[in-house]
Amino acid sequence: LVRRLLENGANSSFVNQIVDLDVPAEDIARDPLAAAEAEGFHPHPRLRKPAEIFPGRQNSRGWDWTDPTDLAALDAARAPFAAPYRWTAAPPAGLTCGAPRAVTNPARPDDTLGTVVEALPGSVAAAMAVAHTAQPGWAATERGAILRRSADLYEAHTAEFLALAAREAGKTLPDGIAEVREAVDFLRYYADAADAPEPEARGVIVCISPWNFPLAIFTGQVAAALATGNAVLAKPAEQTPLIAARAVALLIEAGVPAGAVQLLPGDGRLGAALVADPGVGGVAFTGSTEVAKLINCQLAQTAPDAMLIAETGGLNAMVVDSTALLEQAVRDIVRSAFQSAGQRCSALRMLYVQEDIAPDLQAMLIGAMETLRLGDPWALATDVGPVIDAEAAAGIAAWCKEMADAGQVLAALPSPGGLFAAPTLIRLPGIAALPREIFGPVLHLATFKAEALDDVIADINARGYGLTFGLHTRIDRRVQHILDAVDVGNIYVNRDQIGAVVGAQPFGGHGLSGTGPKAGGPHYAPRFCRGATRPASPAAPQAAQDAPLVAADVIDAAFATLDQDQKAQAWANARDRIPQLRAALRGTAAAAMAAAASLDMGPIDLPGPTGEANQMLLRPRGRVLCLGPDPATLRDQAVQALAAGNRVVAVGAGAAEALAPLAAFPLSLVEGRLDAEGLTSPEAMVRKARSIGLNVSAFCEALGDCNCLYRAVVEALSITQTPYLGNHHHLRQEIVSYVDQNRHLDFVVQ
Ligand code: UN1
Repeated sequence: LVRRLLENGANSSFVNQIVDLDVPAEDIARDPLAAAEAEGFHPHPRLRKPAEIFPGRQNSRGWDWTDPTDLAALDAARAPFAAPYRWTAAPPAGLTCGAPRAVTNPARPDDTLGTVVEALPGSVAAAMAVAHTAQPGWAATERGAILRRSADLYEAHTAEFLALAAREAGKTLPDGIAEVREAVDFLRYYADAADAPEPEARGVIVCISPWNFPLAIFTGQVAAALATGNAVLAKPAEQTPLIAARAVALLIEAGVPAGAVQLLPGDGRLGAALVADPGVGGVAFTGSTEVAKLINCQLAQTAPDAMLIAETGGLNAMVVDSTALLEQAVRDIVRSAFQSAGQRCSALRMLYVQEDIAPDLQAMLIGAMETLRLGDPWALATDVGPVIDAEAAAGIAAWCKEMADAGQVLAALPSPGGLFAAPTLIRLPGIAALPREIFGPVLHLATFKAEALDDVIADINARGYGLTFGLHTRIDRRVQHILDAVDVGNIYVNRDQIGAVVGAQPFGGHGLSGTGPKAGGPHYAPRFCRGATRPASPAAPQAAQDAPLVAADVIDAAFATLDQDQKAQAWANARDRIPQLRAALRGTAAAAMAAAASLDMGPIDLPGPTGEANQMLLRPRGRVLCLGPDPATLRDQAVQALAAGNRVVAVGAGAAEALAPLAAFPLSLVEGRLDAEGLTSPEAMVRKARSIGLNVSAFCEALGDCNCLYRAVVEALSITQTPYLGNHHHLRQEIVSYVDQNRHLDFVVQ
């Protein structure tokens, strides 16, 4: 209203001019269209067009499906791909395969949309050999241009992809559009990494993608691996091979050699065989935490140097306080919990509402839920499609029944049967009562008293997941307080918490939610490259070799003391760590300081649509164990780990003098040498860590030398990214991510 008053009250407004006797009536009555026509109907040159909102990168084409013209065009274009149109998917010729299998539409069991021929586990060695042969040639190719051409081809095939997304994955039209756009954005975003100077590829990357983003995540993993010069073995989800097959066909049409990107449809046994091949240079996996751990353990046995990026599940919460705008909160809750039938790992599972507004919000939320239409996602009227398969539907139904029997269900829509799960609202005391991630349209609601907000955040953090978090409030100070306290990868303020956009909201979590780095962020593609040349680790000096063994529980105790120390906590948030360290070091450890100072911890503003503020920042991992072995190396490691805000336990012999300048920082020096099982070499450490299910990959490699430590610290730190200025409130929104958590080094002391 104020904006309108200001605009209309301006001298240039007709409201003002109409009473101004000096302005002739014909001027006021002039046809504004004529004026626009005189300008050729061009917008103001400084207004950026949608395609141009990301500097240096073309934005994916948007479709306004609420506009009848756009909608009619889309509808007509996808019509030829309606049933009975069929697709096929198969691995490259020459591999051992199973019998063809029919792929059916989860919304319509009678709609068979194609057949897939699956590669058998025995075919992995042959595919791997082809990939290794193709990789050097691909690495020497103009990869960026080919990936950008792929993006254009994807866009040209939007209608076909929309049809596949609906018929194979049960995606509604808006979800299908978002799917294609995200895939296109990934291709163009990672294409820039191909232009970066001399990235050294890791070799062959195994990409294992999920059915819930069968084009976007599939393409994101593959594009990052290809951009950095790797060859790819891509295993799509068992449920969604057809859309992946079209994607690979377009990549090849754009110029990626067939040996550099091989589609290997198959089930979990094929995935297991792929990650067990000693030739694997890295694995990009999106799926369950359990499988991620198995992959990690497998790599420990067969390819300890291989990198692993795992993006896994979440128990995502949203907090709505009494200052929130209810209509806006309800809109965002419904989107976050029920869009895509809740089948996003970013989806809202646990809603906390301040008790003062809970009755009103609950009534409004149930009203909004009742407007949701379930049905065939092909139909434009459908809001919620089916879940992916019978197993998923049964799991969701079992949980809802258990809760209904316990009298906890607040609202549930009628289900049309089949693979449809009814959107359901369940009352729970809090996140601790959620037994697991319920991957469907099921939302849990708890209330909290205003003064118990910190306990709510502590409960959320205590679950050990760290993916998305939503907050609705109009209090700036509360936003900052919660941003600092909540321990997740992506934080969204005054908006929904799904639909992260490539380059604007890099996506990914830590803890049980994955390893990072974030997809669609600046640290992702570099992870597919080897780091800077690793200098040989310095030999342990005689003093270190002769030093007494340090028992594991001594390290544990040293960390425990630092964990409790208020000063150590403050250090993680201090903004002047570099100047403080410089002052203490007085010119010594210059190289380590220079490396540390070159790390931009943020917050960095990221480009994005008007109306949002997106920020990314790095956070310290927490505990860092430095092992030297010689005093100078130990000091350099400690300097870099401290500079990034970590708590450090340094183990060494005769290092007291070298570390003396660091005495005032959260550092604990343990005299002696560490001989915990598996710490004899970086490779052995990785193996040991992975064998107990922890992802420590690059970080452990790093313990041996300074350069690698720097690289690992960069990778391992949190990337906090951002929030927005929501449309109605100029509150910061923050997205946080990092690779690690405190438990990271526990393997050392177990
Ligand atoms: C997932 O559900 O596996 O933010 C990932 C989002 C998507 C990614 C979700 N860009 O919802």
